[in-house]
Amino acid sequence: MGISFLSAQEKIPQVEKLLAKMTLEEKIGQLNLLTPGGGIATGSVVSEDVETKIKAGNVGGVFGVSSPDKVRQAQDIAVKSSRLGIPLLIGSDIIHGYKTTYPIPLGLSSSWDMELIKNGAQIAAKEATADGINWNFSPMVDIARDPRWGRIAEGAGEDPYLGSQVAIAMVQGYQGEDLTQPNTMMATVKHMALYGAAEAGRDYNSVDMSRLKMFNEYFPPYKAAVDAGVGSVMTSFNDIDGIPASGNKWLLTDLLRERWGFDGFVVSDYTSVNEMIAHGLGDLQAVSALAINAGLDMDMVGEGFLTTLKKSVDEGKVSEEQITIAARRILEAKHKLGLLDDPYRYSDESRPEKDILTEENRSFARKAATRSFVLLKKHENTLPLAKNSNIALIGPLADNKNNMLGTWAPTGDPSLSIPVLEGLKNVAPNATINYAKGANISDDSTFAKKVNVFGPRIQISEESPETLLKEALDLAKKSEMIVAVVGEATEMSGEAASRTDITIPDSQKKLIRELANTGKPVVLVLMSGRPLDISEEMDLPVSILQIWHPGVEAGNAVGDVLFGNYNPSGKLTNSWPRSVGQVPIHYRMKTTGRPEPESGEFQKFKTNYLDSPNSPLLAFGYGLSYTNFEYSDVKASSNELGANATVSLSATVTNTGDFDGEETVQLYIHDKVRSITPPGKELKGFKKIMLKKGESKTVTFEISAEDLKFYNSDLKYVSEPGEFDFFIAGSSDADFKGSFTLKK
Ligand code: BGC
Repeated sequence: MGISFLSAQEKIPQVEKLLAKMTLEEKIGQLNLLTPGGGIATGSVVSEDVETKIKAGNVGGVFGVSSPDKVRQAQDIAVKSSRLGIPLLIGSDIIHGYKTTYPIPLGLSSSWDMELIKNGAQIAAKEATADGINWNFSPMVDIARDPRWGRIAEGAGEDPYLGSQVAIAMVQGYQGEDLTQPNTMMATVKHMALYGAAEAGRDYNSVDMSRLKMFNEYFPPYKAAVDAGVGSVMTSFNDIDGIPASGNKWLLTDLLRERWGFDGFVVSDYTSVNEMIAHGLGDLQAVSALAINAGLDMDMVGEGFLTTLKKSVDEGKVSEEQITIAARRILEAKHKLGLLDDPYRYSDESRPEKDILTEENRSFARKAATRSFVLLKKHENTLPLAKNSNIALIGPLADNKNNMLGTWAPTGDPSLSIPVLEGLKNVAPNATINYAKGANISDDSTFAKKVNVFGPRIQISEESPETLLKEALDLAKKSEMIVAVVGEATEMSGEAASRTDITIPDSQKKLIRELANTGKPVVLVLMSGRPLDISEEMDLPVSILQIWHPGVEAGNAVGDVLFGNYNPSGKLTNSWPRSVGQVPIHYRMKTTGRPEPESGEFQKFKTNYLDSPNSPLLAFGYGLSYTNFEYSDVKASSNELGANATVSLSATVTNTGDFDGEETVQLYIHDKVRSITPPGKELKGFKKIMLKKGESKTVTFEISAEDLKFYNSDLKYVSEPGEFDFFIAGSSDADFKGSFTLKK
């Protein structure tokens, strides 16, 4: 098909009229995205002379510019001083809330609550557009199965089905029904593609993967976002089959445009076009030509398009038509946003005060944080805490505003965040709460320096580690119980923050051991941007609540959960390994031809390790509650499923404990025989339900042949007749309970 197909979509008269007036240089100008450096400059460069370039018609969009007046000024320059007066796209990274910062995306995904996630995106859109932004570089939907990779924090975990649901919720939340509404913004699905599969978990590293794995495991969330109507797609830094995503025609044209029918525009990642020089694909002119010919429309920050495309057209290396196509896509985006009719649609000076960081938004952030927490371990009946307890609150993250927001919150203000100490006091004013730091996040000053690029996240005390520890133990002795807030600083995860050691830093591990030794009840409140190896801590006599980086309302949310105002209901969206040696790890692993014995015991010549079970420490889908849920009567309405029919798979869930609570009921299947090796199990549905103490509910999933489809060796999306096992449970590590047969 190729170019003629690409330009065949319905033309928009307003856009065509503009295009007809544009010179080649002006078209190339639309493909240029700059940042004056107001956000986080994640590359080594920021753009220079942005104003002059806008006036010259050399800029299609900017990011890192916010507030209605600054955006108005930028649009003024574009509209009044450039020849054709075309308004700018105003981009930003709003990854987990705008100024009202929510939990990191990995945390939010642990809520398994798509309404909540959609609502969060809606509120983020309302806040960001009030501040002049019309285009968001989110959702990040990269499947990630390697917790060494710091950007695992930004996504929804390891599973393509769950990841797709989250992608849809976020696109719908940001974009709403109508992009011309001033409280909606264009979403960007990123990073296309496979960025989360970087070899060795090292950020920006190469990816090498079979097409089957791409289609069945890694592509579904990008495709779901495209099907949900996402306005733009961002390429990833990595190569795919030897060609970096930003220059990969198979990816950007054959797959994205022709196979998936995407009709928005594609933007590069930060200088990722230029980076193809370092990848080894040629000079700036060559890589820029490669990118535009592959189907990339907009060049982020690198200015390779701006400075070389004209020459490439003159030399016949790029067609003028290809540039027109890309410029058309950018103009169409501006049309969709209503900018061509009103460039100042997002410059309403009265909005920030009404829409940003409102009480309502903060209370949403608090609720979202409570829903993201995952109770990893209950020891005795420590939790929930009585509101008049005498608590030793210990740990380097217990009274620490700098680490509440999490990675990718450049639009948030750490000074507005509620630390845990303050939050506990807010929720339980009658409790006695005394604080001691107990340990540094890390004692390693070289490590701290690397983490502290955006602020003082790891502050090493003047006092010696021994003194810090002694103060904490003295306080613990005087108190009834211990709450220890420990884990990772904000920038120990996120971009360019990979780790080879995914345990809690040694300084804190020691503190935790000593606290557990006191014999007092201990609750570990664990913060991190990734699954950690907490094998040692799981063996201690402590309760563990995973809170990720919870956002601006962190402390209040921790108070709500510890004191029982909300009974935790989060479930892990990644498998947590027993050791870094197990990674990459995920629950959809194949059985192989030499499955490990069901007992999990080591057996020679089976697929297992000499020194570790195969199973993770904590399974995908796992998460406890203050109450207990029991599953019974797991059954299929029929043991046969006709090609055009559905089968109902159901289970009864009973709250058998002492508290009301929410449970995420999960359905997994196993395709027993098919033409390509199937995963050992696959999530096919989930429902979050509320059960009062003693209450039972029956949860039903309707499954049809469509739900059983996969990509076969010819990359055709098919279901194949045969037997399927299934189970319905509160975690992925349960046993199969029933089966049904898909008929021809
Ligand atoms: C990141 C993107 C981000 C971009 C712009 C890059 O370094 O990979 O996710 O959208 O910077 O800030």
